[in-house]
Formats: sequence, structure tokens, C-alpha cells
Amino acid sequence: MAYKIPLFDLNFDEAEAQAAYDVIKSGWISTGPKCLELEEQFAGMLEAKHAVSLANCTVALHLAMVILGITKGDEVIVPSLTFVATANAVRYVNATPVFADICSLEEPTISPDDIKTKITDKTKAIIVMHYAGFPCRMDEIMQIAQEYNLKVVEDACHGPLSEYDGKKLGTIGDIGCFSFFSNKNISTGEGGMLVTNNPDYAAEAKLLRSHGMTTMSYQRASGHATEYDIVRLGYNYRMDDIHAAIGLAQLEKLKADLEKRAQVRNWYLEVLNDHDQIIVPFAKHRGFVSNYIFPIVLKGTGKVQRDDLRNHIHAKGIQTSIHYPAVHRFSSFKDYYRDLPLTDQYVDSTLTLPMYARLSDSDIRDVTRVLQ
Ligand SMILES: Cc1ncc(COP(=O)(O)O)c(C=O)c1O
Repeated sequence: MAYKIPLFDLNFDEAEAQAAYDVIKSGWISTGPKCLELEEQFAGMLEAKHAVSLANCTVALHLAMVILGITKGDEVIVPSLTFVATANAVRYVNATPVFADICSLEEPTISPDDIKTKITDKTKAIIVMHYAGFPCRMDEIMQIAQEYNLKVVEDACHGPLSEYDGKKLGTIGDIGCFSFFSNKNISTGEGGMLVTNNPDYAAEAKLLRSHGMTTMSYQRASGHATEYDIVRLGYNYRMDDIHAAIGLAQLEKLKADLEKRAQVRNWYLEVLNDHDQIIVPFAKHRGFVSNYIFPIVLKGTGKVQRDDLRNHIHAKGIQTSIHYPAVHRFSSFKDYYRDLPLTDQYVDSTLTLPMYARLSDSDIRDVTRVLQ
């Protein structure tokens, strides 16, 4: 069924089509000048020293683990309220994901207090995830990391241009990871970026994304190199220039898109702030955020009632989603199970409502009316 109001709408027009066409006509379609341009613009936009374009965010998270030297026997503290890729990254390097709970239903990001209780002498890193684009409590988390000598990776997939204390998300920890999957704020189909202020990490990421090879095909084709050595066990995790060109077209639109999303969030808040059965997470948050999604929590509701309401909303032509099923409850994670009461409560009573720039005031009234 085609929804009257879908969950997400791709912000694509002729600009993306033209950008892809131009690369195809240029004769160079794999990693090349467009990837470089996207990296420079992305780093500039975040005021980060380095950005390395990649095939997607999952591989950015994997490379983050490899670059930070996480290995078998190590423990990495992660949220369970996230997409599975955040925790899988830890498993790719044969380390152990240790799940920490969220702060509260109002602030569903990883809890610094719970992080502290999960630290052992095997803990090497923390991966935070800035849920919906709202910042985790980075001051406290960075302080814990300093005290226990831990690395911090930011899964900033939801938060391009979101800010925390004057800094852009993804630039506060050791490494930040971004996704350009089709439903993200920046969409290229598939795509990702690793961001860091550490030149050694950036150089390592560039090496590992391309087989551990000392030169790239584009450098050889353009006469800047004639041979290569393989110096590390690397991967093929590269982005290509077609995706990068689409990404550049998307970057042009990003700020305006996010400003419209902020307006959409305000329209939601005008109605839902007074609703005594609904919690809007981060309702009191001030500061620029990406508003990647608009989740709500249905007070005192369990999974069955939530799913009933979801079906009712769908029948009215409005698409919703759940962000996310808890990772610690997946079958594949049974060996890593932890009791996470707040995460459990959150995932069983949350519902994600439509969020994208083209939504109108009247669309929001239609969506919120079915919640009354
Ligand atoms: C929080 C989070 N982490 C990681 C990923 C993985 O990103 P990608 O699909 O680019 O590999 C996603 C994308 O869905 C995500 O939302």
C-alpha cells in the first residue's frame, strides 16, 4: 500500500541526477576526484581535520575498531538502543560488546552512570550513538574515557551537523562514523564517512579501505604513481565517484533541509507537549540538531498496545516505524545479553512518526490527530 504520509521522503531532484550523469560522462566512476571533494567538504562542514569516504557506515565502524586496535578479549561498551551495525562492529574484531542502558525514556542515549558500572579491566572503548541526532552526554563520557583510558567512537549516523557545546557530533571522540544510506539526512543510496582529528587514524583508514595498498588506482591512472605495495591486511571499503557526486549535491541541501525538519519538530511539539500520555524524547533540548527521526514514547504502554496503535495509524495511511528493536534481545546476541530495564521499556513503547523536510503543518495535524 502507498502511504498518504510516508515515514521518510528522499530529498532528490535534478541536481542528484545531473551529478551522477556528469560522473558517468567523465569516464572515471570509481574512487577519484569526487570522493576527494566530498571528503574535503564534509570535513570542512564539521570543522574536522580529516574525513575518509567509505562504502557505508558499517565499514566505518569496523575500521574504527581496527584502527583503535580493538581485538579478541577486549570489551567495548555500546548502547542496545541502536541499529545492529553499532554492536556488530565490535564482533567483527572478535571483541565483546557490553551493552549499557539509556539515561531515561526522556533521554534515550547511553547512560554515563551505566557505562561506569560496565567498565572492567578488559574495557578498551565506548561506542556512543547520538539517537535521532540528539547528543549523548559527551562531557561525562569523555571524562570517563579519560579516567579509564578508553577510546571513544561516535556513531553519528543520525546526526550530521547536530551540535553539542559548539562542536559538531562525530568530532568529539577519537573517531566519528556517518552513514549516507538512502533514509539518512544525507542520502547517496549506500555510503559512509569516517571522521577524525588524528592524522594517523585518517592515514590508516585510507590504507585499510583499499586493501592496505600504498597507492590508489586513480593516482596510478593520473600518472602520480606507477606501482604499489600491500602493507596491511586491508579491505575493499571504498566509496565511488558516482555516490560521492550525489553526496555533494546532498550536502548543498543539508542545512536548509535540517532547518525545515526543525520546523516540523516544532509543529509536533506544539501538539504533543500537552499530551499527557505521550513523552517526546529530548523535548527540552535546545541547540541545533539534525532531527533524523521523530520518535515518541507511549506512556504506560507495552508492545502489544503499541503495535495495535501502529496498525491503526497505518490503516489511516500513515507510515510509522520502531527505532529500534533492542540489539541485546536479538537471537544472534544471546551470548551478550544484559538486563537493560530502561532500554526494554523504551523499545516496547516507542513509535517513530514521519519526519522529513517536505511535511506540512497540516500533515502534522493529520498524524497527531490519530494519536488523540
Ligand atoms: C545508528 C546506525 N548505525 C549504523 C548504521 C549503518 O549504516 P550503513 O547502512 O551505512 O552501513 C545505521 C544505518 O542504518 C544506523 O542508523
